[in-house]
Amino acid sequence: MRSLFPVTDLTTTAAAAPDREWSLDELAETYAYPAGLPDGTPWLRANMVSTLDGAAQHDGRSQPISCAADMRIFGTLRGLADVVIAGAETVRQEGYRPARAREAFAARRAAAGQGPAPAVAVVTGSLDLDFSLPLFTEPLVPTLVVTGAGAPADRIEAARKAGAEVVIAGDGTRVDPARVVRELAARGLRRQLTEGGPRLLGQFVAAGALDELCLTLSPMLTAGDAQRIAGGPGVAVPERFFLASLLEEAGFLFSRYRRTDS
Ligand SMILES: NC(=O)c1ccc[n+]([C@@H]2O[C@H](COP(=O)([O-])OP(=O)(O)OC[C@H]3O[C@@H](n4cnc5c(N)ncnc54)[C@H](OP(=O)(O)O)[C@@H]3O)[C@@H](O)[C@H]2O)c1
Repeated sequence: MRSLFPVTDLTTTAAAAPDREWSLDELAETYAYPAGLPDGTPWLRANMVSTLDGAAQHDGRSQPISCAADMRIFGTLRGLADVVIAGAETVRQEGYRPARAREAFAARRAAAGQGPAPAVAVVTGSLDLDFSLPLFTEPLVPTLVVTGAGAPADRIEAARKAGAEVVIAGDGTRVDPARVVRELAARGLRRQLTEGGPRLLGQFVAAGALDELCLTLSPMLTAGDAQRIAGGPGVAVPERFFLASLLEEAGFLFSRYRRTDS
């Protein structure tokens, strides 16, 4: 893996060397959350992978368009986050399990005042989830179920019984994406990472809630009618993001875009 941007990194031979596997520490430095955010201010980043022609999945999963380096970055982003936010369909399709405590991130997490692993927050209106799965029964940190006040009461009860913490972030069955960010931040979960899927990410984008996008561009073409990384109603005016870093390995590009260029 090598760094292509910022260009100053290219002056260091280590960062520019193409055939060197980056350590998890180096990746953690590159992907660090911004330092010095005002107290209580959340930072929401998304991590997504797309093919050259914009497909966010193949055969209903993202794995076929990913690669080992992408998974290392995926793991690093989890290792830095307080909470991983995912739409219920991604949780169902990708078979989500609790986030692991990883030795490689232990010291960094302890120094940042974080627990051993990020919590997983599942956004759902129906709560049509299997609460007997390890995601709910065996996490290191209780899994959060984020839903609306009008969600089915028996399903809320089932979620709580399984050990999940239920977070209300909407008045009906739908959650308000900006409120999801606020409710999680109010619980001290400020370093937020959403792993999609496209329907959930589209709502964060439309609400102007996304601060950063970590986008892997996969050197593959799939055609077909797969979802893009963000769907649903569009924004009135396209929002400009700024390139913060760009890594490359075997034709895969690992970009990081921020809403502000600071
Ligand atoms: N390329 C990538 O990086 C990437 C990343 C993630 C996922 N994916 C792929 O994307 C697909 C799944 O994504 P998706 O877009 O179909 O679904 P999704 O965004 O993961 O989940 C949609 C579900 O989330 C819940 N939800 C979303 N917004 C809500 C709101 N405002 N209020 C209440 N609940 C809400 C609903 O759950 P209920 O139905 O329970 O009410 C909804 O059905 C899979 O194929 C997966 O492999 C790709």
